[in-house]
Amino acid sequence: MSAELTLALTKGRILKETLPLLAAAGIAPLEDIASSRKLVFDTTMPGVRLMIIRGTDVPTYVRHGAADIGVVGKDILLENGAEGLYEPLDLGIACCQMMTAGPAGWSPGSSRVRVATKFTRIAQQYFAEQGIHADVIKLYGAMELAPMMNLADIIVDIVDTGNTLRANGLQPLQKIADISSRLVVNKAAMRSKHEAIQAIVDAVGLAVEGQSV
Ligand code: PRP
Repeated sequence: MSAELTLALTKGRILKETLPLLAAAGIAPLEDIASSRKLVFDTTMPGVRLMIIRGTDVPTYVRHGAADIGVVGKDILLENGAEGLYEPLDLGIACCQMMTAGPAGWSPGSSRVRVATKFTRIAQQYFAEQGIHADVIKLYGAMELAPMMNLADIIVDIVDTGNTLRANGLQPLQKIADISSRLVVNKAAMRSKHEAIQAIVDAVGLAVEGQSV
């Protein structure tokens, strides 16, 4: 008998890197996700289905038990909190860094620093730890514009290649955290469906190890 399990996956780039790991663990969608408008997919593993949603919604579904397992970026876990979740695996995919960035040559003055970001909790915590007075301004995208338009002095954002920063006259300053995608598990489900979930955690863990050799 196999338990019914739902995996909530983050759509977009993370999904592209997640699917090969799941396939190596024996979980493949029964139809092509990329060419479908559906949001839920049965898989080659009986009783296991995939949900494809926004990363910010993954912890919510898993925390409430509407999904048993999730794949989500560490940035979202840091920003939104990880209460009610176990985080048993670093998948080693979608790796990037959470950084401060500012105009070339920018250095902090004596006054408060204005910081634009969509990661307000991460930014507030980081600057508090540094003993820096920061006015954190919430944006929902295109943070790189904020210094250029004098909305903020610097930004806090995800940096991968650095191309987006460079294209907008900014440079990386300080690293706040290494970011990658994580497997998260609902704590209650980990107890009630332990055998089935642990088997998937172990299989995906082996796939991650196989990918890194
Ligand atoms: C992230 C981030 C930067 C970009 C950095 O955006 O906000 O804009 O990637 O990547 P780079 O260093 O390789 O240029 P993403 O594409 O994830 O979309 P988002 O703006 O919706 O977060």
